[in-house]
This record gives sequence, structure tokens and C-alpha cells, in this order.
Amino acid sequence: MQHPTSLPMPETPHTADGGRVALAFSGGLDTTVCVPLLEEEYGYDEVIGVTVDVGQPEKEFEEAEETAAALGVENYVVDAKEDFADLCLRSVKANATYQGYPLGTALARPVIAKAILEVALEQDCDAVAHGCTGKGNDQLRFEAVWRDSDLEVIAPVRELGLTRDWEQEYAEERDLPVEGGDEGRYSIDTNLWSRSIEGSELEDPATIPEDDIYDWTDNPSGKDSELVDIEFVEGEPVALDGEAIDAVELIEALNEQAGAHGVGRTDMMEDRMLGLKVRENYEHPAATVLLTAHEALEQLVLTQEERSFKQQVDHQWAQKGYEGLVDAPLVDALEGFIDSTNERVTGTVTVKLEGGHCRPVARESEYAVYSQSAASFDEEDVEGGITQQDATGVAKYHGFQSRLANTAIDAASDDSE
Ligand code: ARG
Repeated sequence: MQHPTSLPMPETPHTADGGRVALAFSGGLDTTVCVPLLEEEYGYDEVIGVTVDVGQPEKEFEEAEETAAALGVENYVVDAKEDFADLCLRSVKANATYQGYPLGTALARPVIAKAILEVALEQDCDAVAHGCTGKGNDQLRFEAVWRDSDLEVIAPVRELGLTRDWEQEYAEERDLPVEGGDEGRYSIDTNLWSRSIEGSELEDPATIPEDDIYDWTDNPSGKDSELVDIEFVEGEPVALDGEAIDAVELIEALNEQAGAHGVGRTDMMEDRMLGLKVRENYEHPAATVLLTAHEALEQLVLTQEERSFKQQVDHQWAQKGYEGLVDAPLVDALEGFIDSTNERVTGTVTVKLEGGHCRPVARESEYAVYSQSAASFDEEDVEGGITQQDATGVAKYHGFQSRLANTAIDAASDDSE
């Protein structure tokens, strides 16, 4: 058997004189190797694990529990599903996607970071630690929350420059409980709002993903279409097919129902905060349905100018959401506009799930900015007494400046010849 020190051990940037550290713990390879590193290299007396429930599959908790027990680490599990679901629904009001991605991982991070910080403070910890690498977004999202406390923030994987190969070898030499360090081919992050799949051959943007990367969505083949009614009150979905339902259950139900139609797959190139471009695959059936339905209702009840300005507001909200900065004062201010316009986003939208797509097929609201008589081809008697002939003056003016400008350009070019 090899001795642990056969692996070159990078130097730690700072060391502690004992004390406790709370580690964001999943039981995966990264966070598992962090435990002995925090004790032996960083010098903490005790590591406590914290696993935050934002809707991961049950087996992830079992893995965390088992691994923690095998490491002799006390692991705290915090249920933050409701807080997270509330944040997801705030993102729906903002029609929030980042480059097409509905922000599942991004929105979960501040929720997880806050829950960990609370445990760390309750347990008199001196430090908080995460197992994120120095390449991704999550390190930034976690630390934005943690650095607002007096606790030391430690990122062993980043600080020691660890690679997965190094971690695997270390885990083997130290006999750490990582099932041989093989966690499957992909790096997967799952919560209520989305499932993200990265790594392995997917890192080549030219590689078409195998079907086995998908877990929430079926291949849309020959399944009969289905209609779903979603009722909103002030921009928040409150009922599914006429039945009142809470946020967590609604999201879970739609992930199932829309996932069966293959709704909510994204395969994209994503610009990370550090500037790296990465290939990302996501599944997010419920998010797609709710975002589609919400926007369809806004189309009905908001004025054109509200919608146009709201696109800019929504874009900024999504950007802060992606950065994990949902507590920024800017977000509060943006939500002033979002909430005020959404006071009228009350009504019902019917969406059709069919062949991997979800599209609105009917919408109604007492706040509809819509006059059927004015829009109709058939009606004579029109709201406001508007007639077809009234458009004549508008038609004469339409494009007038362009016509003048083009005439002047032509004349000037004739002169110069
Ligand atoms: N790129 C996404 C984000 O930063 C998701 C990353 C998820 N991580 C993973 N190991 N699949 O929000």
C-alpha cells in the first residue's frame, strides 16, 4: 500500500489553530476529500458537514449521510425547499433565463449558502468551506453570501489547485469512502428547478449527447399531446388544472408531467462569470412550462410599452440571478417594477405539451388589454367608435421621415455626379 505522502501536497494559503469549520457537503468526491484536507492541512479540529435540501433526489441525501458517517463527520441536513421554490417563482415573475437557461443551479446557491452560514453560526464555527473549483460560478455565488460574515472562507479545491485525478488518487490512498472515486461519467447538479449535466465527452461542443444524459425528460415520440391549465394571481402560479397547489408540489408535478413530453431540454454554450465559455446541458420541464405560461399572460395584460421596458428589467434580474446576487439592492428595485406590473398578471393560461414543446394555446384575464371588436375583421360596431378609415392619416405619416431622408440622399448623390 502506498503512503499518503507519495502524492505531492500543495501548500495551504492559510492555517488555523484548531476550531470548527462547516463544509458544504454532498458526499461527492470534491467535498469528501475536503474533510481530511481541512483537518490535516488547514489545521481545524473538527469539520461539520451541511447538506441543504433544494429538491435533490433522495439518493443524494443517502450518499451524503453514508459518506459523512464513514468519515466520522457530523452532517446537518437543512430543508430549504420552500425558500428555494419561492425564489424560483420570483424568477418566473421576471421571466428569468440566462442565455436560455432557467437558472436552477444559480438560484439555489444563495439559498444553500445562507442555510450553511446559519448552521455554522449556531454551531460556533470559525470558518465555512466549499468544494467548488476555481473555474465555475458556484465559488462566487457561495462566497458572496459568506463574506458578509466574520467567518473565514475556505475553498480547498481552488486554493490547492486540485484536479479530479489528484482527488481520486488521494481518496484511494487515504481509503476515503468515495466508491472508488467513480461518480459516473458526468458532473450533475440537480434541484427542483433544473438538472444540469456537464463533463466527460460533453465538454466537446461538437459531440451530440447520448440519450442517457437525460433523466427528467423522455424522448418525445408519438405521445398524445396534453393540455395544462395554470392559474396565476398577481404573477404567481397558484393552481394547476383548477386545483390549488403550493409552489414545491406544483414544480414537482410539472417536472413529471411536462418531462414525459420531453419538454425543457437545453443544450447550449454558456458564458460563465469568469469569462469561460462552457457547453451545458439542462433539463427543466416545470420551469419551461411556468415561464411560458407567465409570459403568455403578460402578453395579454401588459401594455406594449410596459412589456418593452419590462424586457430590460427582466434581463437585469436574470443577470443578477445568474451571479447569485438576488439580495442586491438593484434586484429589490427591479422587483418594484416587476411586482407593480404583475399586480395585473392574474388569470389562466392553457399550455399544450407536445413533442418536446410547450406552447400557450389559450389565455384569459379580467385585466386583458384587449378589445375583440377593435381587433376583429368582422365587427362593424367598434369600441371607442374607431373605424378603418381612421387609420388613413396614420398611414400617410408612416415612414414619412424615411421617405424625406431617402429623397435627400438621392438628390445629393445626383448633384455630386
Ligand atoms: N453552469 C451552470 C451555472 O453556473 C450550472 C452548473 C452546474 N454544475 C454541474 N456540476 N453540473 O449555473
